[in-house]
Amino acid sequence: MEPTRERAWETLTRYTQSEALRRHALAVEASMRAYAGKFGEDEERWAVVALLHDFDYEIHPSLDQHPQDGAPILREEGWPEDVVEGVLSHAEHLSLPRDTLLKKALFACDELSGFVHACGLVRPTGLDGLEPKSVKKKLKQPSFAAGVHRDEVYRGAEELGVELDDHIRTVVAAMQLIAHELGLRTAADAA
Ligand SMILES: [Fe+2]
Ligand SMILES: [Fe+2]
Repeated sequence: MEPTRERAWETLTRYTQSEALRRHALAVEASMRAYAGKFGEDEERWAVVALLHDFDYEIHPSLDQHPQDGAPILREEGWPEDVVEGVLSHAEHLSLPRDTLLKKALFACDELSGFVHACGLVRPTGLDGLEPKSVKKKLKQPSFAAGVHRDEVYRGAEELGVELDDHIRTVVAAMQLIAHELGLRTAADAA
């Protein structure tokens, strides 16, 4: 099978009805596309892995199933092994090596994109004008977006070899491009 973005979206949406989860997949996709571009890597392949990384979360909502029980489904559908491996690598509890740039980037974008999303939702202008400084300040408030693992945000950037400020800027800019798809306002809406 051709591992295209279109097929990945089709698989994701067949297993995932939740709007929030679909938006999470799109946010990670946008961030991964930005990094694929920066690193000169295969943007479509990175987008595919991003869209699929939590494809089974709705049917496997606990860590004794997600994402390990999703992998056989992907193999059954004919997704190439590097895609399956990429998907599996984002799970901390599986302790798999993150030995490629794609895996490092996926881990780095997963938690941060969720956090940036939360920041955007509470601002009248969404992500427009959102500076790393204010994202970092919110990271230090444990009650804000409490479900986001701060340690994974910091470690993700470190393992990818990017400064946290630059990482935040990249993810914010990537998500800004699809703000409306993510359910976020923009400065134009606020005006
Ligand atoms: Fe996950
Ligand atoms: Fe995720």
